[in-house]
Amino acid sequence: MDTRAIGIFDSGVGGLTVFSELRKKLSNEDIIYLGDTQNFPYGDKSKEKIIELAIKNAQILMSKDVKMIIIACGTATSQAIHILKEKFDIPIIGIIESTVKYLEKQNIKEIGVIATEGTIRSGAWEDKLKENIKGIKVINKACPMLATIAEQGRAESEEGKRIIKEYMKPFKADKINKIILGCTHYPIYEKLIRKELEYDVELINTGVTVTEYVEKFLKANELQNEKKVGKYNIYLTKPEKEFKDIAKNIMQVDIDIEAI
Ligand code: DGL
Repeated sequence: MDTRAIGIFDSGVGGLTVFSELRKKLSNEDIIYLGDTQNFPYGDKSKEKIIELAIKNAQILMSKDVKMIIIACGTATSQAIHILKEKFDIPIIGIIESTVKYLEKQNIKEIGVIATEGTIRSGAWEDKLKENIKGIKVINKACPMLATIAEQGRAESEEGKRIIKEYMKPFKADKINKIILGCTHYPIYEKLIRKELEYDVELINTGVTVTEYVEKFLKANELQNEKKVGKYNIYLTKPEKEFKDIAKNIMQVDIDIEAI
């Protein structure tokens, strides 16, 4: 048993979609969230820069004595997880492997992936899916702007709706019925995406899949916290005025936000 907190990081509010699922399922665990708002967005940055920022985030979480780190960010997972695993001697869990583990139990022929430019450019989702699911066809779509609009609390704006319409075109045309929300900001658009697609579609929320993975991992390694109620902390590298409201919306609870 390990009573230390689980550390999570993302560039901004996106990782809260993971935090929210963890909190529902693993209510005993203390969770420390780091939003690197100072360096948002990650999606258009180079691989070198993402690695540098991911290392910095992991160091901050390590200084808070976490027992494991969840990279609640598709962009950082796709380009930096291997480096973090090498550099830090606590478990590092990203959103790609855990999601593919969930999907490989199903018999899938084709799947859509929406994510940031950097994530799609890395090919990380497509490679992992093809490595684990024989013959799968992957339809990738980079969605620049989606994370930024969500970060500004404007997901439901006219601009948000227009952009979703545009980005859903390749999926709508072929009625692709499984789409991975490969950026943790995207579950914020779930309703809009469903409305736009009009047909029955499974939208894979990586918060759900990573939580399932973490739950098993904690048990298998006897790392669970047996305490009754988890404590939560959110740290930001730069104060962001919209953060508190967006966090409340996603988490359904008020959590104090501190500057790092
Ligand atoms: N939420 C992040 C992701 O999953 C980052 C989005 C961004 O900063 O561009 O990719």
